[in-house]
Parts: sequence; C-alpha cells; structure tokens
Amino acid sequence: MKGLILSGGKGTRLYPLTYTRAKQLVPVANKPVLFRVIETIAEAGITDIGIVVGDTADEIKEAVGRGRRWGVNITYIHQEAPLGLAHAVKISRDFLGDERFVMFLGDNVIQGGIAPLIREFEQSEWNCQVVLTPVDEPQHYGVAELDPDTREIIRLVEKPRNPPSNLALVGIYMFDHHIHEAVNSIKPSWRGELEITDAIQWLIDHGYKVHPYIHRGWWIDTGKPIDMLAANDLVLEEMTEPVIEGYVDRDSTIQGRVTIQKGAEIINSVIRGPAIIGENTRIVNSYIGPFTSIYHDVIIEESEIEHSIVLEGTVIREIPRLIDSLIGRNVELTRSPYKPKAYKMTLADNSKVGVI
Ligand code: G1P
Repeated sequence: MKGLILSGGKGTRLYPLTYTRAKQLVPVANKPVLFRVIETIAEAGITDIGIVVGDTADEIKEAVGRGRRWGVNITYIHQEAPLGLAHAVKISRDFLGDERFVMFLGDNVIQGGIAPLIREFEQSEWNCQVVLTPVDEPQHYGVAELDPDTREIIRLVEKPRNPPSNLALVGIYMFDHHIHEAVNSIKPSWRGELEITDAIQWLIDHGYKVHPYIHRGWWIDTGKPIDMLAANDLVLEEMTEPVIEGYVDRDSTIQGRVTIQKGAEIINSVIRGPAIIGENTRIVNSYIGPFTSIYHDVIIEESEIEHSIVLEGTVIREIPRLIDSLIGRNVELTRSPYKPKAYKMTLADNSKVGVI
C-alpha cells in the first residue's frame, strides 16, 4: 500500500502566518502538522509516500527531505495549480500505479489510532474507505448521508447548503485502483475543482463498495488561526509525561506535563504544563502558562505568556501578560524605552492585535 499527502494549498485563511511559509509546516506542539501526517502513515507500515506540492514546494522539500527521518521514501509530485483533490490523484497516477493507497490532507490533525484502520483497509475487499466525523457546521465540508438501517453511504455532497447529516469527510481516504477511472470521469465543480467527493460518489453510483468509518476522537482542520490554538491545546493535552532535555536552573519551577527540548534554558522562571519549550530557546524571569508552545530559538524575558503559540526566532521582552496569541517567526515584542510613550508597531497585512 502507498501513501499520498496533499500539500499544494496556499493557506490563505492562515494569513499572515502563511504569507511566507507553507501552512502544512506551521507547528502544533512544536511539530509541523505535515510531520504528524507522515508519522501516522509510517506507523501503518507504509514506506512509499508521495507528497503533492504546489507553490510552496521548495520549502516543503527542504523541511521533509527524502523521508529518511521516518524510515520512508518520499516522492514529490508537482501540481501546477490547486485544481482539486481529485486532480491531485490524477497527476499522481504514475506514482500510485495500481496499488491501494491512503490519501491524507497535509493540514489535518487527527487523534491517534488511524494506523489500524489503514491496515484493515489493506486486507479488505472494499474499493474505498472514507473517514467521517460529526461536526457542528457540516455545510463547510464534504458531507455523507448514511442509510439509517444498513449504515451504508447513500450519497456524498461537497459543501451542501442543506446538509443531509452532520457527518463530515475529514480528509482521510483509502482507495483501490478504481478511483483512477472515477477521477477521469467527473467534471469540475462550481468552484472549478475536481472534487474527490464527486469521484467517490461516482464509485458508489457504479456499484463499488465504499465503506464509512466514523471517527469518534477529535479532528482539526488547521485552516484558521483559532484552529491552530485549538489543535495545540488538544495535542499538548495528550502529552502524558514531563520530558526535560534542556537546562532548568535551581530558581525555576516546572509544574505538570512540560517538555523542555534540547539546548533550551529556563532561568528563574515558572513553566506550568501542559507546555512545550523548543530547542535552544531561553526563558528568563518569566512565566509560561498552560497550553503554550514556544518553538525553537526564541528568547522570552521578564514576560508572562499563556495559551499561545510562539514561532521560531522571536524575542519577547517585558510583556506583562500575553494570552490566546499566535506569534509568527522572528517577531520582536518588547517595551519601548523611547518617548513618546505609546504602542509602536510594525504589523504584517491581516495581523490582529488586541490592546488594553
Ligand atoms: C476538502 C474536501 C472536503 C473535506 C475537507 C476536510 O475541503 O473537499 O470534502 O470535508 O477538505 O478538511 P477544502 O479544504 O478543499 O475546502
């Protein structure tokens, strides 16, 4: 069985964080979402993984490489334009051959336990398996209607105005070779994309067996900043034990499930878990509260931060209280000693700041 990860999208809804980087590389609990997806596929014993890339190809290639870190072999497949998930399958035909495969969206985070599902599909007679989960706003997703008696899929609709159920397609699909005929038979949707949802409907219409699996844990499509913080909460919540690989001085207190990564230094500070402090980051005279991820090479001094994500290279000094924040890379957030005494900001397009 092979794996196919889709990482072509631009991430416009995550602006400004993704002006300069691929959305799949934004970290959740200090690990890029795309790395979590690769791990999940590798865990199922799949070693041949294709990644469909678009405008951000170079950055993704640099971060992921050939996959040796996960014991897998990565092939990159170029998608000229984001023309849909079924289009991505179409252009991956040579890589996929006639083998069964699992397809994952590269920006989704799902609570563990997907590997057994992939193995089950590998040994089954099913032509396709889709993962569904109940959601509050199904109109934003592909939605499945199940037969109330047999629990078989009757119909799949992409972003329906009147959703037939609350069961959304989560962006994890398993296929056999019949999907290739399906993606070649469908037409683009109203948004000009070849929808995988339509291709699966084609399989159903032609009598192929499409098996629904209902996922009961959490699942987050990390499309918007608020989703990043929510995903960060959920992943940090799952860390079970403290891991201290960096240096913590005698004047500091580490409470609860805290990970201090290699080369990090905690000086005269309090870190309250669940939280993670990245490699070579320095925390001095500060408080880092629960549900916070500080990435690598960050400096935090004389500040208090809670329920936030801070990306690499950022410096935060003398900021009395920062909560519910998503701070990008190489940001400087400090008190200004110069008059006039005022907020002085250089903010990227689409930034959001809440002042008191
Ligand atoms: C895509 C799929 C949709 C699915 C969603 C999951 O939507 O078309 O069926 O429910 O991913 O994240 P898109 O992200 O392209 O709007």
